[in-house]
Amino acid sequence: MTKTNTISVGSPYISSRCKDKIKFISFGLGPVGLLILQAAVVRSDFELVGVVDVNPDLVGQDIGRLIGESREIGIPVSPDLSPVIDGISGQNQVDLVFHATQSFLDQTTPQFIDLLSCGLNVVSTCETLAYPYRRYPNLSDQLDQVAKSNRCTLVGAGINPGFLLDLLPIFLTTACQEVTGIQAVRNIDAAKRRGPFQKKVGLNLSPEDFARQREIGQLSAHVGLTESVYLIGDTLGLNLDRVVEEHRPVIADCAYSSAEVEIQAGRVRGVNSFGRGVRNQQEIVRIDFNAVVGSQEYEEIRIEGYPPVIWRNKLGTAGDSATAAVILNMGKRVVAAQPGLLTAADLPLPHFTRT
Ligand SMILES: NC(=O)c1ccc[n+]([C@@H]2O[C@H](COP(=O)([O-])OP(=O)(O)OC[C@H]3O[C@@H](n4cnc5c(N)ncnc54)[C@H](OP(=O)(O)O)[C@@H]3O)[C@@H](O)[C@H]2O)c1
Repeated sequence: MTKTNTISVGSPYISSRCKDKIKFISFGLGPVGLLILQAAVVRSDFELVGVVDVNPDLVGQDIGRLIGESREIGIPVSPDLSPVIDGISGQNQVDLVFHATQSFLDQTTPQFIDLLSCGLNVVSTCETLAYPYRRYPNLSDQLDQVAKSNRCTLVGAGINPGFLLDLLPIFLTTACQEVTGIQAVRNIDAAKRRGPFQKKVGLNLSPEDFARQREIGQLSAHVGLTESVYLIGDTLGLNLDRVVEEHRPVIADCAYSSAEVEIQAGRVRGVNSFGRGVRNQQEIVRIDFNAVVGSQEYEEIRIEGYPPVIWRNKLGTAGDSATAAVILNMGKRVVAAQPGLLTAADLPLPHFTRT
């Protein structure tokens, strides 16, 4: 499936308004799925109807306890979708699934097919779903068809990819008459991030192990830079010829010790990653994501064009809680969207709404 640049924001939707109460299933309860669930259950505009996760340590546990409540709420973690769907009564129609399991679309496609085949709308943190058309054209096509034939919608979102280094730069170009280049940088202190992320970027590995694990595909590093660059390039019609992605380990020149991590001198302290979108040998889009222990956190976006735009968040965005927020706020748009496989840039402007 090739994503064309013909979607005009807001036009193809049944409604940009949301239902008063969105009934949802949480699918995947790792640190991120749990944060999404915790953020949703305290809101009066979301109602939990079921939870799925294959982790044997979680299966059968009551959700009340898992989200830190003092009492059980009568919803246990199910190892698969069927009992959850079977247990839902006619009045309790599900509007949306919050999906947070894995990063690569070839892993998550069977899960999406199951969900979409039940007619469920899905918003997922799966990084490669943020812009799946280039890396996985066939799977994109398949998912689009299954979603359309079941009258439901599938969207990949999150903080990065899905917002900070793609949707936000795209939005900032609203103030431009011409755009000739885009650069976006996100710096995070890897010590402050969840365990699975630290593992993914290879914290504390020796440089040799980092290189070996990268070579055999055991260490993904950050996933989604290529997707962010293409999401920008294709949405803005920048006609990129190709995207180049690289991940370079940053080696600690001294030991780092904090409440969260211990890094020995000579070992991996983090990763400098970048994605470059190139046209006619010229870099048009560049995204840098640096996840290094002890780094100053910030984001900066530069739009070259007329008029140029520079945007900077000197605080840095707390990625995991912000991902939960993006998923909830975007989820409301997904419920109201036209059927099919869409991207965050296809949806009407998402935002927080007080309830
Ligand atoms: N787009 C973004 O900005 C963004 C931000 C944060 C995270 N993410 C991504 O979101 C995903 C979740 O993050 P995380 O840190 O919470 O990951 P995690 O620690 O790996 O947790 C994933 C959970 O999903 C479960 N799971 C795996 N396959 C499943 C399946 N087929 N059916 C049901 N449950 C399944 C896992 O069980 P087992 O442990 O037993 O496998 C685990 O409990 C990751 O891919 C992460 O990279 C994206």
